[in-house]
Amino acid sequence: FQGQGRGVWRYHAALPFENGVSLPEGDTPLHRAPSIRDAAGVRSLRIKHEGMNPTGSFKDRGMTVGVRVAKELGVGRLACASTGNTSAALAAYGARGGMQTLVLLPAGKVAAGKIAQAALHDARILEVDGNFDDCLDIVQDLARRGEVYLLNSLNPFRLEGQKTIGLEILERFYEEYGRFPDRIILPVGNAGNTSALYKAFRELVQSGALRPSEVPKLTGVQAAGAAPMVEAVEHGWSDIERWDDVETRATAIRIGNPVNAPKALPGIRETGGTAIAVTDDEITVAQRDLAREGIGVEPASAASVAGLKKLRGRSRIDSDEDVVCLTTGHLLKDPDEAFKAGGNPEPVGGDTDAVLEHIGAN
Ligand code: F0G
Repeated sequence: FQGQGRGVWRYHAALPFENGVSLPEGDTPLHRAPSIRDAAGVRSLRIKHEGMNPTGSFKDRGMTVGVRVAKELGVGRLACASTGNTSAALAAYGARGGMQTLVLLPAGKVAAGKIAQAALHDARILEVDGNFDDCLDIVQDLARRGEVYLLNSLNPFRLEGQKTIGLEILERFYEEYGRFPDRIILPVGNAGNTSALYKAFRELVQSGALRPSEVPKLTGVQAAGAAPMVEAVEHGWSDIERWDDVETRATAIRIGNPVNAPKALPGIRETGGTAIAVTDDEITVAQRDLAREGIGVEPASAASVAGLKKLRGRSRIDSDEDVVCLTTGHLLKDPDEAFKAGGNPEPVGGDTDAVLEHIGAN
């Protein structure tokens, strides 16, 4: 096993092992984004870019722990349902751990970069005639029948690793500002991160490292076409009602049955956070805003920034708040949506005159 003392494994005191199957993961940047901060009008803004993990998303933090557990148990086949990133991470970490992987993807609804990763890391890829929630139902059945070891975020060891997102944010933010952020805004799909961050904060409070008043407000953002968590928060429900029809260009969070909702909803409520839905157009604008700061993210990731702008616009976030937005996946994950948001290359003749004429130079 590798990774001892680095990235995620720097926090081994909060994890079930000292090290894991590691590439290594974690230790992601906490970028400034001055133009977005100024436009939103908050005291400070940092972007925690989880797209900078080895396979390009936060999933690696969970897999380094989860695949270690699978090796410990000696299971034969790892499996997950996925909107793409989980499958890419599982394929890579499974390969690293020398294990077979099976991934179930909703046919036609997974970004190209993610399928390419799963393919090259040699996962067996099944394209299911159904949405993500159907895929997860099937994988849970397979796990119950003992056919596979499930590595979706229903697996609690995944969430142990993902706690380190919260630990890193608090530690780095404190180093720079001498205080903790008031609020963490994150895209929500299955609500795994929301649950994991809440658990991390609870453990810090229990250990005396963090005062209850210092716990950041967990603020979830969903795409308007797939927003059962927002609905549950608005109604004060303790669990979601499953949405059967979901649609958004942020395919990573095209999820109608967030399985971690019962663990995540108390996190949003108890920390004084909230949840909001953003439209696909708002996501596109936020994706471009981030790109203008040099930060390349996939659509789902931009939901956090879109949510910040919308909540500030409605005065549901105060101007004196220190805010951290989580961006969960890298731009290269979804090249097709990047072209749609950013524009296509322009064909031009193969000589200098043609280029000069094309760019309108004299
Ligand atoms: N952002 C990205 C880029 C994701 O890939 C996901 C989930 C989320 C946000 C939502 O995170 O579930 O912790 O609320 N992707 C899963 C997958 C479903 O299969 O890759 P969550």
